[in-house]
Order: sequence, then C-alpha cells, then structure tokens
Amino acid sequence: KPLVVAIDGPSGSGKSSVSKAVAKRLGLAFLDTGAMYRAVAWHCLNGRINLENAAAVEGAARTIGLEQSLTPDGEYIKVNGINVTGPIRTPEVTAAVSAVATNLGARAELVRRQQDIIAKSGARIVVEGRDITTVVAPHAEARLILTASEEARLRRRGLQLGGAQTDAQLRELVLARDARDSTVVEFHQAADGVFTVDSSELDFAETVSAVLTVVRR
Ligand code: CDP
Repeated sequence: KPLVVAIDGPSGSGKSSVSKAVAKRLGLAFLDTGAMYRAVAWHCLNGRINLENAAAVEGAARTIGLEQSLTPDGEYIKVNGINVTGPIRTPEVTAAVSAVATNLGARAELVRRQQDIIAKSGARIVVEGRDITTVVAPHAEARLILTASEEARLRRRGLQLGGAQTDAQLRELVLARDARDSTVVEFHQAADGVFTVDSSELDFAETVSAVLTVVRR
C-alpha cells in the first residue's frame, strides 16, 4: 500500500540524515531533491552556462541526464553519466544553486521528474526538500516540516563542515541562501495537515522517533 513521506525543511535542520534514517526504518525508497537542484547548478558551472540567463538554466534542467540513488544508503548522483556526488557539495555549487532554485521553469521540470520517480517507486518513498509537502507530493500519506532554531541550524552545519568557516561565512551558507530561495517558494510555512517537528532540543535518535510517530499516527 502506498506510503509517501514528504519532508521539507531549511538548511541545517537535519532533514537529510533524518529522512534517510526514516526510510531505512520503514523499508522505503529515498529521494534527495536538493541533489537534483545542485546537479543542475553543477552542470551549468561545468558547461559554462550563464547562471543569469534564465532560459539557459531552464534549458539545462530540461535536457540534463540525471541518474541518482533511490535508496537510503550509498547515495550517488550522475549528470550525463558523470558521478558528481562529491562535486555538488562544494561551496561553488552551493553558491550557484539559488539560480536554479529561483528559476520557475527549472523548478517545474524538476518537480515533474520527482513526481515520476515517486510513481516509479510504487509510491513507497521518503522524499525530502523544500516544496515536497506543498507542490511535489501534496497528497502524501505523511507530510512533515522539520525545523530547528537558527542557532541549532548554524551549529549543525558548522559541525558538518568541520568548523573551518567563520560565523559570517556560516550565516551566508545557511541563512542567506534560504532567505533567497524562499522568495520563490513558501518553504517554511506549514500547509494544512502538515506536522511540524522542531528538532532544536532533540538529538538525532529523538528526531527520528518524533518523525516516525507522525508517520504512524
Ligand atoms: O544544503 P541544504 O540542505 O540546504 O540544501 P539541499 O537540500 O541540498 O538543497 C540545495 C538547494 O536546492 C537549496 O538551496 C534549496 O533551496 C534548493 N531546493 C529547492 O529549491 N527545492 C527542493 N525541493 C530542494 C532543494
């Protein structure tokens, strides 16, 4: 029977690792939609496609060959056959990704591909991103927003990046990008029927349990 779990949340909310753990526990497939936005951004940088040219960015999203893991472990993503799993996480790609996330044509194309992947999974999948509860899978069996205080998000992302950056760099990475991207999509407003899990005061295991409780309710 179908079980689509839609999880949205800002940077540093722990969304990715929590979503993977939930998929593993429930024996579901897993889709990281942020990796798709990052892959298009990587492709534009790599192919010298001007990120300020909206039509060119949309064209890249439409024509790019994307292949990615749909399981909670062994995550990978390929662009036209090239494995870009590591390269899509570089600061250069992170800085470029807003040009893709704020491009409505590119979004429409990626949403279409994501809905296709959900259908092909037999609708048994955890999907994480920014617009999953509202646009990609508004009819999902379980819809959640994973939030955390700014302080908790900055701390987690800092740890994840190895503590090499200044506070100002971290704020840019975590807060400014979200602010930019959310001019296009209402990321953090819980739609009707969407549960919010605030992980600020929870550790990883507690956050996973809280999400599982919502899914099983
Ligand atoms: O590093 P972080 O967890 O914030 O980002 P990500 O989940 O890897 O997503 C990369 C970028 O794609 C972010 O800037 C998001 O705003 C954007 N994105 C989006 O616009 N819609 C989605 N469904 C997923 C990601």
